[in-house]
Amino acid sequence: MKTRIDPNAPTFARNAEAYATLIEQLRERMTWSLAGGGEKLRARHLDRGKVPVRDRIELLLDPGSAFLELSPLAAWGLYDNQVPAAGVVTGIGNVSDVPCMLIANDATVKGGSFFAETVRKHLRAQEIAWENRLPCLYLVDCGGAFLPEQDRVFPDYGHFGTSFYHQCRMSADGLPQLSAVFGGCTAGGAYIPALSDESVMVEGTGRIHLGGPPIVKAAIGEVVDGETLGGAAMHARVSGVTDYLAMTEPEALQKLRDIVAQLNWPRPQHATRLPVRPPQFDPAEIDGIVGTDLKQPFDVHEVIARLIDGSVMQEFKPEYGATLVCVFAHLHGYPVGILANNGVLFSESAMKGAHFIELCNQRRIPILFLQNITGFMVGTEAERGGIAKHSAKLVYAVATARVPRFTVLIGGSYGAGNYGMCGRGFAPRFLFAWPNSRIATMSPDVASTVLIELRRSSLKGDSDAESMKALEAETRRQFEEQSDPYYATSRLWDDGLIEPSQTRDVLGICLQLADASTPRFEGQTPVFRM
Ligand code: COA
Repeated sequence: MKTRIDPNAPTFARNAEAYATLIEQLRERMTWSLAGGGEKLRARHLDRGKVPVRDRIELLLDPGSAFLELSPLAAWGLYDNQVPAAGVVTGIGNVSDVPCMLIANDATVKGGSFFAETVRKHLRAQEIAWENRLPCLYLVDCGGAFLPEQDRVFPDYGHFGTSFYHQCRMSADGLPQLSAVFGGCTAGGAYIPALSDESVMVEGTGRIHLGGPPIVKAAIGEVVDGETLGGAAMHARVSGVTDYLAMTEPEALQKLRDIVAQLNWPRPQHATRLPVRPPQFDPAEIDGIVGTDLKQPFDVHEVIARLIDGSVMQEFKPEYGATLVCVFAHLHGYPVGILANNGVLFSESAMKGAHFIELCNQRRIPILFLQNITGFMVGTEAERGGIAKHSAKLVYAVATARVPRFTVLIGGSYGAGNYGMCGRGFAPRFLFAWPNSRIATMSPDVASTVLIELRRSSLKGDSDAESMKALEAETRRQFEEQSDPYYATSRLWDDGLIEPSQTRDVLGICLQLADASTPRFEGQTPVFRM
């Protein structure tokens, strides 16, 4: 094309000059937006060891990634210009090579609390993410609704509540919702991480509480400090409200990057297969780790490390419910979510397992169960804590998982633990067992004790010492015989006994078959935080 524009013409020069003033004005106003809450509050933020919001974004994004910031001049000219960028930075950038929507509160602007424009900006970012199918990453540092404006922020559709409605619906639609918590998150601020599929918290500065210490004092007269009430260590280890504990903000942001890297995203028809890498440790060493005595505990991480590619695992909720180890990894190049027993199952471990299965469903990642389980915890404390309903959550999740499931019996498979860990009754696609494994309602020791107790309370009156001894011997013999792995495989309770060192290759074939035949559909439920 031939241009008719003459850059030397007087009209051109007049236009350009007039436009330059617009550009100058725009840049000035952008400077207002970039300044956040101003020097004094920025200095206080830094003094507390916290990272400014735009630096957090910079640390999170891939080096050199573009960042398409949205509505940076929201709330311009409102509230005496005291709410730069409406107190939240939103935009799209690449994290671990995945384009993501970032929604990051600026705590230097009224504690990151929500004005009407903050809500609008937050909701608009979610709508864009939904339409363009982008995972949402929330960098949370938020005091909830800005209380003097509560009537414009809280009650109506399109107000704060709608952002939570969006979070749940997007998760149900298969779009990951992930949070990192950097500061005090109260009320609505607390719900952003609480409704996330996975969340990270920074020790020392991150807080999550539905009501902060002043509200707690006013409501129930309890005097408590913020760290005890809602600190990161408490939530990672006791309440399970967060999944990962980070010592610093950069560590939390790196964790978020690691989570995104394991999302199996974008979700293609077939899993993104990575190049196959052998484990860093020799699978032949598993025999020496596991041994033949089921009463001898071993650390299941050591077994997993000898099954997976590069021995690289990303452990979910490592601080919580530690008797059930849940990891994302790759095996023969295929993504896999592994649930492996490391002790008796408590309510916390069961809920963690159920949450992990939901994540695998959402990410279309097949699940591998490594069973070495005596059962769920028993006793008054466990029952009062609702172990029956919490273990049922794991059983529901196992039964209704929408991704292929595989099970390997690597030790004991006893009682309801067998159900919670996808025993044969729950129809895993394949179930293999190792020659050291045992399967029965309970171990010979426990069974003989139970039957002796029953005999003692029996009305038959045949509980003399001799018949008790005979009963014990007979029970032991029966349970030892029937829980023997050859008794099991002979009756086709499994798909074969395999050697520990063959397990990696056998599972590789299973994963390949599953990948070729997995029906692909989006999740219908969000990830419920357990
Ligand atoms: N509503 C109104 N104002 C709020 C607010 C809220 N939800 N959260 C913070 N602010 C204001 C503070 O009053 C203060 O205003 P000022 O600068 O005019 O004095 C400013 O934001 C900064 O707050 P400050 O408490 O100094 O910051 P901080 O970093 O020490 O703590 C919070 C931040 C969010 C942890 C803390 O302000 C807080 O707990 N806020 C109340 C949260 C709450 O109860 N929300 C319920 C919403 S339903």
